[in-house]
Amino acid sequence: RAVPERVVTNDDLSKLMDTTDEWIRQRTGIQQRHWAVEGDSATGFSLLATQRALAKAGMEASEIDAIVYATSTSDHFAPGNGVYLQKALGIGTVPALDIRTQCSGFVYGLSIADAYIKSGMYQTVLVVGSELQSTGMDVTDRGRNTSVIFADGAGVAIVQACDEAAGSEILAWDLHSEGEHAGLLWVDTPGSIYHPRNQAEHIAEGKGFLDMDGKEVFRHATTRMPESINAVLEKGGKRAEELALLIPHQANLRISEMVQKRLGLRDDQVYNNIQRYGNTTSATIPIALDEALEQGLLKRGDLLAITAFGSGFLWGSALIRY
Ligand code: UT7
Repeated sequence: RAVPERVVTNDDLSKLMDTTDEWIRQRTGIQQRHWAVEGDSATGFSLLATQRALAKAGMEASEIDAIVYATSTSDHFAPGNGVYLQKALGIGTVPALDIRTQCSGFVYGLSIADAYIKSGMYQTVLVVGSELQSTGMDVTDRGRNTSVIFADGAGVAIVQACDEAAGSEILAWDLHSEGEHAGLLWVDTPGSIYHPRNQAEHIAEGKGFLDMDGKEVFRHATTRMPESINAVLEKGGKRAEELALLIPHQANLRISEMVQKRLGLRDDQVYNNIQRYGNTTSATIPIALDEALEQGLLKRGDLLAITAFGSGFLWGSALIRY
């Protein structure tokens, strides 16, 4: 994982807009988050996270066969960040696939890596979730329901083919979309549907900022994530009590708590760190996974579930034997 150095507290935000530390903690669980400074980039965070992952795995960048890069906040409108990371890593002309499935980005990205590997197409796939949300936040009263939540950072995983004796495996997938709700959590502009794409009025009207109907998103998230985890448990022939760890997308601590309750999981079975990072969109799950591994919460052979829900709507889960 890699996050910007700058820490922004709830009190810092209350100086910019009509909000309080108490409201943010009570409604979201967030105490602080990391926000970029000039010169930082989502590609930069993903490069640092990849270098750290390679060091942990004792691998060289040249061993990576393909990059699957999830971000909803790419450095530029086009091309996506995958090619910039490929260049920064200096690893020849490996394929770089950008995916834009927002908060579900890491789950979808991992599913692509799994399919690449199981088909025999690639052996070692770098899966990235990286975001720089803060430059697109409306830090006025108008944007207070989103700007106190979203944050910056990256997490990556190097996914590699292994023989059965190693025991690690992705056991089951569950992936969904429901586009009729796209307007409940979106960034309207710039969009090619508009003639011309870039319009000064859109900027003035705030259409370039992330816009969310929090209550509706909350309602769907707390239904879809438990449903999806139950689906992978069933497909994998496992029960909730067998899970060593569930890492839910970190959108709101109250959402995670409700998901935990609906699945009947103990506190020690669910990992949350939104308190310190806020919602880093596609990066929340790999950042949390990295912390959980550092804390020794997962050992080889343990059952891990990851689940995400967000803009699209898109959601999904994976059941993993770590
Ligand atoms: O990662 C992608 C998925 N995203 C999510 O899953 C987010 C889901 N939604 C949420 O997390 C919550 O809905 C929020 C945290 C965004 C909002 O919490 P809520 O309990 O649903 O509050 P609300 O939107 O119903 O707003 C309650 C009040 C409103 O004031 P009135 O109308 O009651 O006077 C808001 O204007 O809270 C007000 N409010 C704020 N007050 C202080 C909204 N944002 C803030 C704020 N500080 N930052």
